[in-house]
Amino acid sequence: MTTELTPAQLGSDAGRFARLRADEYGYLDEHGHTYLDHTGAGLPSRSQLAAHAARISGDCFGNPHSDNPTSAASTELVERTRARVLRHLNADPAEYAAIFTPNATGACRLVGEAFPFRRGSRFVLPLDNHNSVNGLREFARAGRARVVHVPFTTPDLRIGDDAMAAALAGGSARAGRGAPLGRAGLLAYPAQSNFTGVRHPLEWIEAAHAHGYAVLLDAAAYLPTAALDLSEVKPDFVTVSWYKVFGYPTGVGCLVARRDALELLRRPWFSGGTIHVVSAQGGWHRMAEDESAFEDGTLNFLAVPDVATGLDHLDAIGLPAVSAHVTGLTGRLLDALRDLRHSNGAPLVRVYGPEDTDRRGGTIALNILDPDGHVVDERAVGRDSSARGISLRTGCFCNPGAGEEAFAISRRLLRGRRIGRMSGTLDDYLTRLGLPSGGAVRVSLGVPSSPEDLAVLLGFVEDTYRDRPASAAAVRLNPRLRC
Ligand SMILES: Cc1ncc(COP(=O)(O)O)c(C=O)c1O
Repeated sequence: MTTELTPAQLGSDAGRFARLRADEYGYLDEHGHTYLDHTGAGLPSRSQLAAHAARISGDCFGNPHSDNPTSAASTELVERTRARVLRHLNADPAEYAAIFTPNATGACRLVGEAFPFRRGSRFVLPLDNHNSVNGLREFARAGRARVVHVPFTTPDLRIGDDAMAAALAGGSARAGRGAPLGRAGLLAYPAQSNFTGVRHPLEWIEAAHAHGYAVLLDAAAYLPTAALDLSEVKPDFVTVSWYKVFGYPTGVGCLVARRDALELLRRPWFSGGTIHVVSAQGGWHRMAEDESAFEDGTLNFLAVPDVATGLDHLDAIGLPAVSAHVTGLTGRLLDALRDLRHSNGAPLVRVYGPEDTDRRGGTIALNILDPDGHVVDERAVGRDSSARGISLRTGCFCNPGAGEEAFAISRRLLRGRRIGRMSGTLDDYLTRLGLPSGGAVRVSLGVPSSPEDLAVLLGFVEDTYRDRPASAAAVRLNPRLRC
């Protein structure tokens, strides 16, 4: 089902978003950029950047780990931003804490390194995860927990509720249905896939809780265009990188965590800023009792308040309007990509994932095909699109599970002993196996995206690849690792 915009929305919001593009994101057109990598990074508005400059040049802000006046000024802004983050997610501050991290990856690591994985518990994760979540399996293995992958179950790269239920139930025989939080282990999944844009069901959270799992919801690709209401759904840990949501600041993320779930975590170390009291000679320490126990070292205190500015900017546009804008453009792009044909009638593009806007965000993974259906090497597409001023993404986007499924690379091949020991890249291995491609092209949309961006992309694909054999595009490619 394609979600069509109403004429009223198209009329008023199209004009509004065009004005926003000119006023706030004018640097795109001034420099001839066609920016189609919003899942890589959102873009900052000029007013966000101006607010940052005005704030840090208008007063003096010191290291927050003190009580002096400039320190107190920093602390006040950091605490206000914490409250602003929780308000954005409609989270009760008595129930949830917002912990500042360098990025979503840092938030994942905080959970993974401190989660009580143990023999008999499980780390359940769909194959559709970013490597910053996949990597948690190493903590699970070190704790002797079992790692359980939930497979894709549909051709458009979704995961059925039955598959998730089976994976969760497998562990509950020991933990028991209704077991205490975290006893069965941890479920970690993305609210939105960074590969296909699929939005996975938030209902999995309660299903996992019922079996005694704690839940890490990776919201990094979801929050830029969708609302997460923590009064309605109750993940234990939510991970986010703010530059993905509104472009600036970089280097600031959050772990938003239920306070009772934080009590499960046992930090493997302490550091500056995380302790209540510590003795060097006595060899003992007591961790801080609030969220600062999880904030290692000095926060990026000049940038953290820009998160509040970014959220205000997003609110001023209106998240429902952002969502409708991106959904509308995504639907148009999907339809147009499907209609692109070679003169023999063969499709020019293969899309991985849903072909409409139902339960998905504005991220589209694809490959270009030649008239005989051969895949054009995505590195050639990266090279050719760059030459046209188009910023898109190629490779597997740090999501190897979705890539392996999209390219039908079987588990048997990947588990072969040779691959673990081989030298060279995954590409080298795929080439030896006779598989043509290990990478895709990703196009992703955001607030400043416009119909003109879509036209540039579509024109580029037609001009460059229509009626052209894949071998002609693939000349002079540098071999390099794709993931
Ligand atoms: C779904 C998802 N999770 C996690 C991450 C990791 O984000 P970061 O590199 O900012 O830590 C990304 C980044 O692309 C992502 O798309």
